[in-house]
Amino acid sequence: MKQSAERLLERELRSFAETHPRSRALSERARSSLLAGVPMQWMLRWAGGFPVYAEKAWAARFRDVDGIEYVDFCLGDTGAMTGHSPEPVVRAVAEQLGRGITLMLPSEDALWVGEELTRRFGVSRWQFALTATDANRFAIRLARLVTGRPKVLVFNWCYHGTVDETFATLRGDAVVERDGNIGPPVPLDETTRVVEWNDVQGLERALAHGDVACVLAEPALTNIGIVPAEPGYHDALRSLTRKYETLLVIDETHTLCAGPGGYTAAHGLEPDVLTVGKAIGSGIPSAAYGFTEEVAARIGGTIAVDDSDVGGVGGTLAANVLSLAAMRATLTHVLTDEAFERMIGLGRRFEEGVASVIAEQSLPWHVTRLGCRVEYLFRPERPRNGSEAAEGQDHLLDRLIHLYALNRGVLLTPFHNMALMSPATSEADVDRHTEVFAAAAAELVA
Ligand SMILES: Cc1ncc(COP(=O)(O)O)c(C=O)c1O
Repeated sequence: MKQSAERLLERELRSFAETHPRSRALSERARSSLLAGVPMQWMLRWAGGFPVYAEKAWAARFRDVDGIEYVDFCLGDTGAMTGHSPEPVVRAVAEQLGRGITLMLPSEDALWVGEELTRRFGVSRWQFALTATDANRFAIRLARLVTGRPKVLVFNWCYHGTVDETFATLRGDAVVERDGNIGPPVPLDETTRVVEWNDVQGLERALAHGDVACVLAEPALTNIGIVPAEPGYHDALRSLTRKYETLLVIDETHTLCAGPGGYTAAHGLEPDVLTVGKAIGSGIPSAAYGFTEEVAARIGGTIAVDDSDVGGVGGTLAANVLSLAAMRATLTHVLTDEAFERMIGLGRRFEEGVASVIAEQSLPWHVTRLGCRVEYLFRPERPRNGSEAAEGQDHLLDRLIHLYALNRGVLLTPFHNMALMSPATSEADVDRHTEVFAAAAAELVA
């Protein structure tokens, strides 16, 4: 299969270059003003050798500067899980734009959003940020404050944004920095403990040191492919964090795909702190982090108000009125209970389509789904933890499938084979992906 993948990749690269002359010209021009020719380094990861330049995005589609239209399953890597520019959010944001953007004063929307997030997620004392990275950073700082402990525990191959403490991985039993970690401020074993997902004994051993302020966890790993929690794992995670008096921070930024209250509500989790970002403002920079009453009471009074502007938590533009208006409109009109029902149904259809192709061609691959997020991995069984998932990555096949799909008007996320359903995605969009995936699989095995 490797040989046919290499051959197909060459063909697809030629075809991509031929059909995207304007994107290519813009990429060449960008080299003289942007570092490495892109506004953000991740944009170098797109499979065609240069990124597609978008001219316009709407609903679950976009058109590029060469006039080609795409079905978008990447959806800004979850930032646009709402669909692009949903009308009620555009309206609310446009109205707010005419009434002020940022003041360092609260608006009534903040109260509404706090109340709604409490209804959805259970934790009840909220703060706002502009990115999920910041929500996680601030949650960690406050966890250190209330526990008086220095360390954070994360799971091997997790991703929680550009949070310094989280770029740690295991080499044997040693905590080391991940490959590619740029300019780490201190060695990672000073700040972080790392254990494998689904390893209850390893978790207990790490927590027993008594120096972990918080466990920061996605309720299923999503950033090394989806790695679900095994039955009973969340119960163990909760009871061990309680036993060792470590706060449990659940990061719902991606697992919001599991339902209106994320995985937490869908599976009855009881985090001490919950963080969420990306989609909750339809892509207008927005994030939130919330605490239980009990943790809020422990924080209460420990932050000196006179110093709170330089305490390392917050930001000038955090909780600005535009961001809050976007969150309110998104939660009221777009990411509703009914929308999730539809999106999850489409996720099932996507999963069934991929599974049928895998079965028809007897491929040693599998497909997995979490709510409206679906992903296929080029290994036969589901991985149990981050290490198994990392070992199962196949960069050649990833790149080929991405480019094959892109050349046929279907966009997947650049990092792995992940597809998200939005309220604007249709059954025809899903079926188009199945058709393209079937064609790629047939060519690969021919
Ligand atoms: C689970 C999780 N948390 C947090 C983040 C950080 O989000 P942002 O890059 O918007 O700060 C990401 C980004 O991919 C994520 O996957």
